[in-house]
This record gives sequence, C-alpha cells and structure tokens, in this order.
Amino acid sequence: MRAVSLLTGTLCLLRATSAEVAPEVTVVEEGYNYIAKLPCAGCPFLFQDTSEGLNEPWSERVDDNALLLNISLPYDSAFLAINNAPLYSGNRILPLVYANQVVQDFSADQLSTALDAGQLEASHESNLGGGFFGLSYRHSLRHVETSQTLEALLFQFDIVELHSDLTNPALRFNLDDPAQKMLEVLLIQRPVLSAGDPSPSFEILSAKLVPRMSLSYERTMHFLTWDTHGEKGTTSHAVSYGTSSLIGFLSSSFWALLGFVMAVIVVSIVVLLMCIFGWEFWKDDYEKAQHGKRRKSSVKSVRADVETGASIGKMKGRFKSAEELGLGLASRGQIVGMGKSD
Ligand SMILES: *[C@@H]1O[C@H](CO)[C@@H](O)[C@H](O)[C@H]1NC(C)=O
Repeated sequence: MRAVSLLTGTLCLLRATSAEVAPEVTVVEEGYNYIAKLPCAGCPFLFQDTSEGLNEPWSERVDDNALLLNISLPYDSAFLAINNAPLYSGNRILPLVYANQVVQDFSADQLSTALDAGQLEASHESNLGGGFFGLSYRHSLRHVETSQTLEALLFQFDIVELHSDLTNPALRFNLDDPAQKMLEVLLIQRPVLSAGDPSPSFEILSAKLVPRMSLSYERTMHFLTWDTHGEKGTTSHAVSYGTSSLIGFLSSSFWALLGFVMAVIVVSIVVLLMCIFGWEFWKDDYEKAQHGKRRKSSVKSVRADVETGASIGKMKGRFKSAEELGLGLASRGQIVGMGKSD
C-alpha cells in the first residue's frame, strides 16, 4: 500500500516536472473566463523560504517571472473583472487590483491545480511560489469597427508599476522594460436571443498579450494614491470616505443608529430654536452697535476703512458666507461698519 502511494507520488512529481509551461493565455470558460500569464520583464522575483516556518521574511531574486491575471466577464456583462476587481461597473472609483507572481516556467499542470484549488485569488495566502503585488495600471475600453452589425469592444490593460509590502523596505518596481507586453481583450456583442433582453451583453472573443501602445481614453490608477474610496486628496474621496464611515458606524449596532437619529432630532431642534430666539437677540445687539457708532467721528471711520482694505475684503467674505447661510444681512455698507465695531 505504502509503495503504491509512493509510486503515484513519484509519478505525479515526474508529470509535474515534465509538464509543459503554461501558455500566455489559458481558457477556463470560453467567452467568459481566461487566465493570462503576463511575463513581467525585468521584475524582481519575490519568494519566501518557508522551510523554517511561515513567518520567514521575503527576499528578492533575479528570475524570469510572470503575473497571473484572471479575466472574467459575468453573463450580464455588468463589468469586466481582473483578479476579482470589477472595472467598468459604472463606479467612477477605480478598483485596487492585485496580482500573484509565478516563475515564468510555471507549468500548465501547476496552473490547473491552482485553478481547481481556487488559489488564483490574488492574496497573501495563495501559495504559488512568488510574490503578491498591488498594481498601478492604465486601461481603456473603446468601440471597434467590425464587419458585422454586432458591436465590438476592445479592452486594453497595461501594468505600469508593482507595489509590495512583503519586503522590508516596501518594494516599488516600474515596468519600463521595452519588451513589456500588455493585455488586450476583444469583446463582441452577443446576439439578442429574446426581446426581453435588457441591454446588449457581450462575450470575450479573444484575450492576448500584445506590445504596449498608447491607449485612447485611458484612465490610470496609481496604486499609492488611490484606495477603496478613490484618489486620495480629492473631494469625491473625502465624500466617499465620510459616507462609508458613517454607514459603517450606523450599521455597527442598533444603538449607533438610534443615537444618530436622536442626534439629528436634537440638532434640528437646537437650530430651530436658534433661528427663532437668536435672531431677536442678534438684532438687538446689532442695533446697539449701529447706534453707538453714529456718535463717533465719521472721518476716522472712513480712514480706517481704507487702511484696513485687505481685512475688510476678508470681513466681507466672512459675512457674505453668513449671508448665504440665511442670516440675512441687509447691505454691504452696514457690514463694513459692523466689522469695525469689534
Ligand atoms: C476568477 O474571477 C472570477 C470573477 O471574479 C471568480 O469567480 C473566479 O473564482 C476567479 N477564478 C479563480 C481561479 O480565482
């Protein structure tokens, strides 16, 4: 019994080592799912010596290697996914895309084993022998002419930089080798089968690796300046971040939600009360100020206005925003006078 298992083990090993190298593109499901093995020209190969345990540090070596890209199109063509990251899903925020690294002569057998085990999901856990990178990429999707009446789309995806924090210091590698290729996927509209089909849906006609070229209508995603809320430092990022933190907080517990609703009610009431009573109070104050000023020398106040021109400008600005808030200041002349009294 033992001998048999030993024998099959050896046979498997022989088969694996003699197996052919995985092709550039492997079809998983015709029309919908392809795996590209994109040679990474000049990229450092990251590996971990796990003979001593799983917590050993990662190191770099020079070795021909490739990045695995899982290109997948759902049946409703709602988006196009690269390593589970949906592109063209209607969301303006570009997704973070990660990729696993393998040696260039990663075999077809190893690939199918990884596919069966669902190990291709780009993550730190997948154990394909190489590193794991965050990608900076440029991509584009455009219409192309076809002889048929069916619509065709050309998708191009080019990796421009690799990022990894497996190594210390973190690794950042620019893919500027002239031999570097990019991915090109041709999508073709599926014939409409029933009148009830909502919108044109597509299938993948071909996926291949081609020399790099300039892309039309391209959008670039720089890994370090983007996160799941978009490009850092932009307004849309702040809004997205704020909204999702709030939603995260509200859905964290019933009490958070209740607290939030109560807070909104309390703030509304306070604002309402301030509008009603605050207005009366402020009006009195304002009238007093205007009254006192009338007694002062008007010449002096005019000179002061000129001297403090700059700060008046600011003052105006400040009060203008109050005006916008609906506090109802009458006119600019009064605003200037008002600013001086303090
Ligand atoms: C490839 O991506 C699709 C869509 O995200 C996913 O369903 C599938 O499991 C992935 N395949 C592998 C082998 O990771």
